[in-house]
Amino acid sequence: MARNEDTSIENRHVFVAAKTGGGKSQLMRNHIVPAKGVRAVFWDPDKDHRCNHYSNRRQFLTALAKADKARKPFRVGWCGDSDKATFAWWCDAVWRILDGEFDTWIVTEELADLDMLNRVIPAYNTLSKRSRKYGGILVGNTQRIQEVPKTFVTQAAEVWIGLHEHQDANYIEKMTGLKREEVEQLKPLSFFKKENGQWVRSGTVYRKFGNSSGKRNQFKR
Ligand SMILES: Nc1ncnc2c1ncn2[C@@H]1O[C@H](COP(=O)(O)OP(=O)(O)O)[C@@H](O)[C@H]1O
Ligand SMILES: [Mg+2]
Repeated sequence: MARNEDTSIENRHVFVAAKTGGGKSQLMRNHIVPAKGVRAVFWDPDKDHRCNHYSNRRQFLTALAKADKARKPFRVGWCGDSDKATFAWWCDAVWRILDGEFDTWIVTEELADLDMLNRVIPAYNTLSKRSRKYGGILVGNTQRIQEVPKTFVTQAAEVWIGLHEHQDANYIEKMTGLKREEVEQLKPLSFFKKENGQWVRSGTVYRKFGNSSGKRNQFKR
């Protein structure tokens, strides 16, 4: 159960949308989630983030509980099963370690894969509605913006929109007012960021990272 509620904490949730390869994970890693000195927990099936990854539930829970108890910065990530039931379990585990005395970055990759368009998973709903008061900062992304509830976008304090295909760009124009041509013409790693109600151009650069990116044996495929 989340503890030490503090209703004065503002909403700092972040939402990022771009097609695959648009640079969402890079942006989150390089610009949004602090690289060190914070409490951070990751839903990270493809290991896009720098953290201690676990694919075993018991080991994940133990690591998280230990880290929480130590009252020190930590980065604990889940890279196991990525189905809805596992996500519900993960959200519940995160909810239980939130503590209003600390910020906790809650990083979730590819929310459309969790099939919440018509019904948000209750444990995720709890995080999105209530984690703010317990220091939770939700950072989520999707490559299919039409397949997540609009509220994921409208309720975020900070929104980043990257490169999209025509159909999604149309939807984005209707939803945000961003011109669809401009959204279609963005380069990978370039984004529009909504800041104080205004859209500004921003982005990130590719930074090498300690997973297997770029080390693929071209022959093996
Ligand atoms: N080795 C590399 N050198 C330069 N740029 C790269 C390299 N690997 C990936 N990128 C850039 O990063 C992008 C992928 O970023 P990523 O954050 O993984 O995208 P997303 O999470 O939106 O699918 C690629 O489209 C490419 O622009
Ligand atoms: Mg990604």
